[in-house]
Amino acid sequence: MRWFGVLGLVALSECLVTIPLTRVKSMRENLREKDKLRDYLEKHPYNLAYKFVDSADLDQGIYYEPMRNYLDLAYVGTISIGTPPQEFKVIFDTGSTDLWVPSIYCTSPACSNHNVFNPLLSSTFRALGRPIHLQYGTGMMSGFLAYDNVQFGGLVDESQAFGLSLKEPGKFMEYAVFDGILGLGYPSLGLQGITPVFDNLWKQGLISEELFAFYLSKKEEEGSMVMFGGVNHSYYSGDLNWVPVSRPLYWQLTMDSISMNGKVIACDGGCEAIIDTGTSLLIGPPDVVFNIQKIIDAEQSYSGEYMINCTAINTLPDIVFTINGVDYPVPASAYIREDHQGTCYSNFDEGTGGLLLSDSWILGDVFLRLYFTVFDRANNTIGLAPAV
Ligand SMILES: *[C@@H]1O[C@H](CO)[C@@H](O)[C@H](O)[C@H]1NC(C)=O
Ligand SMILES: *[C@@H]1O[C@H](CO)[C@@H](O)[C@H](O)[C@H]1NC(C)=O
Ligand SMILES: *[C@@H]1O[C@H](CO)[C@@H](O)[C@H](O)[C@H]1NC(C)=O
Repeated sequence: MRWFGVLGLVALSECLVTIPLTRVKSMRENLREKDKLRDYLEKHPYNLAYKFVDSADLDQGIYYEPMRNYLDLAYVGTISIGTPPQEFKVIFDTGSTDLWVPSIYCTSPACSNHNVFNPLLSSTFRALGRPIHLQYGTGMMSGFLAYDNVQFGGLVDESQAFGLSLKEPGKFMEYAVFDGILGLGYPSLGLQGITPVFDNLWKQGLISEELFAFYLSKKEEEGSMVMFGGVNHSYYSGDLNWVPVSRPLYWQLTMDSISMNGKVIACDGGCEAIIDTGTSLLIGPPDVVFNIQKIIDAEQSYSGEYMINCTAINTLPDIVFTINGVDYPVPASAYIREDHQGTCYSNFDEGTGGLLLSDSWILGDVFLRLYFTVFDRANNTIGLAPAV
């Protein structure tokens, strides 16, 4: 009950508000729909790791973009595109690189549930026409490229290349709490020949330091933030530990080990991990995650989820991710989640096929809620420190 709080309900009513209603629905029908949507959301954590196939504080030069926490599964901020501006909710996603939003030409059900961009209403719009297809761990889109001005966090990114969707197949996109995605991965992960949003901010001289940072709030707390061009020290305690990016494609690093009670339970001898704000959970290789589920006594339900006795939140020890010689403990209260019906689930998940990173880990929001993270493009490093 606790887990699905006030924020979730607000989120759901917002979600439904864009669905065209042909008649006024009864309270009961509305509640039933909300229940269905809530059930769906809770069973479908996000994994927006891109499938790689081939109001600003001017003194400090830090630009703040607030994000809203949806059920601890997604963090969504508002951007606007065009002149005059058209608004969209996007995931600021370090696991992909491109920016896209739905268009008025999109024919998928997902697009009737979300804000759509109308090029005819923007005086700064320029079509590029190049067709694009983007595929994520969950969800995909196809459409075409265009240019327009993009605004967020007090920044105006001029003449930004972005995608407009024509198709967004599937229930995941239909029920998504976001309209589009704003990728913050390396350019090499994105569409070729395109300057991604963050690179454009830097090229246009809009930010003074070539970095951005994420603070993700817990449960119903507000204040989730992505900051551009500087780091605000009041979001973390102690010093940032800097880790080199092992491969500048994803925000990828080399992890030493994963252990429990001082015993290595995964990533023995080291492994690769990507830091992905667009992924809800902790994702690892199937056999390795299977073993962890066994260790924490999580059992697979008929529908495939790993369920766990809620009392384990108070009894299981921390699972420690060691990176560059520094321990990052993740307590049971973080690696177990409780839904609105009081059922508990493991926050570890198996990487599904297709991702080339089949031997690697994805450290998603579960990890990032505990650790404030700086993504430093100037030095190709990732800074981590306990979030306040
Ligand atoms: C840092 O964040 C705190 C808390 O949100 C805020 O009060 C303060 O003004 C920020 N400082 C800077 C320099 O941006
Ligand atoms: C959960 O664990 C507690 C304590 O070990 C036990 O009393 C309870 O029966 C368990 N619940 C279920 C559903 O297995
Ligand atoms: C990163 O690089 C910048 C400029 O290249 C430098 O001023 C800064 O000290 C570096 N940061 C760290 C943590 O090494």
